Amino acid sequence: MTKSARRLGILLSGRGSNFWAIHESVQQGMLDAEIGCVISDKESAAGLALARNADYDALYLSPQGWDREAYDRRVVGELRNRNIALVCLAGFMRIITPYFVREFRHRILNIHPSLLPSFPGLDAQKKALDYGVKVTGCTVHFVDEGVDSGPIIVQAAVAVLMGDTVESLSARILQQEHILYSQAIGYALDGRCRVEGRRVLIANEAETDLSKT
Ligand code: GAR
Repeated sequence: MTKSARRLGILLSGRGSNFWAIHESVQQGMLDAEIGCVISDKESAAGLALARNADYDALYLSPQGWDREAYDRRVVGELRNRNIALVCLAGFMRIITPYFVREFRHRILNIHPSLLPSFPGLDAQKKALDYGVKVTGCTVHFVDEGVDSGPIIVQAAVAVLMGDTVESLSARILQQEHILYSQAIGYALDGRCRVEGRRVLIANEAETDLSKT
């Protein structure tokens, strides 16, 4: 398989810790991939600065003055120009349009800080805490036309502890996110995910479960 078949496009809006975890997995040889570009809709995103400092091809695409689909057409154009095989939403706080989903069908992943379908949308950790669940976690899924609704690739559970605040719970979930995302990316790049309706069947799942290393 050529390297471009393993080229990632990372989309982010904020801190960029998931992007950085993917970067480290690649650097450490745990994930056979190449980060082909990092795109942000926020000029001030810390993740964009991280990407620039690490000499990635890092682009700020301002959404101002563009309708949602026109914006996504620009993003898709930039991804295509760079032969991106897989798009990873890593704290990208825009809902992407059906056009984008169609162009990269089953080639866009998202990470979300809850056990979907519980607590989609913003502030998932606070919603879990407020609801009183005892277990929450994180999910990596293929992106479809809905919000946090696509077929689930992997999930990790995190216990809610008695003294938890939104911050402490979010921090423990984030540790799991950083492991889980690279694992899911590996599955997708290796062509091991078969989507059957809502289910994602993963070939030989036990062999490369990074959470068990
Ligand atoms: C992560 O917790 C991610 O799961 C969440 O935003 C955070 C981004 O952090 N994404 C969503 O809530 C998407 N619905 P990061 O910028 O440090 O990777």
